[in-house]
Amino acid sequence: MRVPGDKSMSHRALILGSLAIGRSRISGLLEGEDVLRTAAAMGAMGATLARGADGVWSIDGVGIGGLAEPDEVLDLGNSGTGARLLMGVVAAHDITAFFSGDASLRRRPMRRVAEPLSRMGARVVARDGGRFPLALTGAAAPLPIEYRVPVPSAQVKSAVLLAGLGAPGATTVIEPVATRDHSERMLRHFGADVTVTAESHGRRITLKGQPELRAADFTVPGDPSSAAFPIVAALLIPGSQVVIEGVGVNPLRTGLFDTLREMGADLALSNERVAGGEPIADIVVRHSRLRGVEVPAARAPSMIDEYPVLAVAAAFARGRTVMHGLAELRVKESDRLGAIAQGLEACGVKLGVSGDTLAVEGADAPPAGGASIATRLDHRIAMAFLVLGMAARRPTRIDDGETIGTSFPGFVTLMNGLGAKIAPVAP
Ligand code: S3P
Repeated sequence: MRVPGDKSMSHRALILGSLAIGRSRISGLLEGEDVLRTAAAMGAMGATLARGADGVWSIDGVGIGGLAEPDEVLDLGNSGTGARLLMGVVAAHDITAFFSGDASLRRRPMRRVAEPLSRMGARVVARDGGRFPLALTGAAAPLPIEYRVPVPSAQVKSAVLLAGLGAPGATTVIEPVATRDHSERMLRHFGADVTVTAESHGRRITLKGQPELRAADFTVPGDPSSAAFPIVAALLIPGSQVVIEGVGVNPLRTGLFDTLREMGADLALSNERVAGGEPIADIVVRHSRLRGVEVPAARAPSMIDEYPVLAVAAAFARGRTVMHGLAELRVKESDRLGAIAQGLEACGVKLGVSGDTLAVEGADAPPAGGASIATRLDHRIAMAFLVLGMAARRPTRIDDGETIGTSFPGFVTLMNGLGAKIAPVAP
């Protein structure tokens, strides 16, 4: 099987293609709701983006600094990535844009992005707590800054780097722990000068401002965060063997694979290669008996979106799995720590939350299941609990399947093709 294109890379490909000179062709783009919102926003600011009949997207970019003021509010739907990256883009243009999104996005913290962008000269007027809707007026002459990100966030890092494209001189981001580096890799792919050096406490990333980005072709690999769902389903369901082709295996994204292997998973990579500056592989996974493990906080950035489905796997394992350093889960599409705990408890799983640590007591057997899960506008909570339902003693129900389309269109058809029985039920 294959899973849809990587969400992080899809947003970045649309943005950088729109800021480059010439026509870029993007294959394998994730055509999920989140990414389509970013495409619409770039279109509203003057780039030309079109999907060919073959599914390849052509983008005619306007060049750095060439975006026009959008007539309408930029509605980023459910997408934190689209929202924060686009704030960085607008910050380096002499335009004003109004940003909003769905109820989930309007609850999420944006000050973490507004703060460094203000230092670069942008002006942001936001609701209480720095929340959407907000208005952002970019800087006519953005200033390069050196910025140490206070929270591990690839979105904040990327927003500053994207704004730095419009600033003269070097913009530097220092991150205490390495987060996904798709922006750094893709900026280079489009011709920017980005250097990364290891520091005693993290990484220093420097972008040379005002480059001429050149149009480039890019093939988006499968999203490891989407692959996580069929992978865990295969591990939990006796007799399973699944091969997922062409998945991105950037080491800053594969913390879940390392953790599952430590738990005893039969999970192997084959056919490893590099394309467009990103490592890719096929993943072969077989049903395995899992044991509980300790997951260190340092690993969290490399598997930040995978905790819902890891917690599901942990519920089936032998013994306790303790996951540390989960503070950021509170500010994702939902409060994921709360949603995981509530959902697992409803399915008969014993667990404890203490500060930013989650401990799940694995029963070495399928949990009861049988619960109705509140998905809280969160696609990954929805998919994680459907996977739990596939392997639990009784099926689970989720209150909203629509959100899955933000990151994994076709999830139900694909899982049913592997033998799942996911179907709509009358409300
Ligand atoms: C993403 C970064 C992460 C991740 C999100 C995608 C990105 O968010 O959770 O799904 O594409 O940069 P944070 O930057 O908030 O950690």
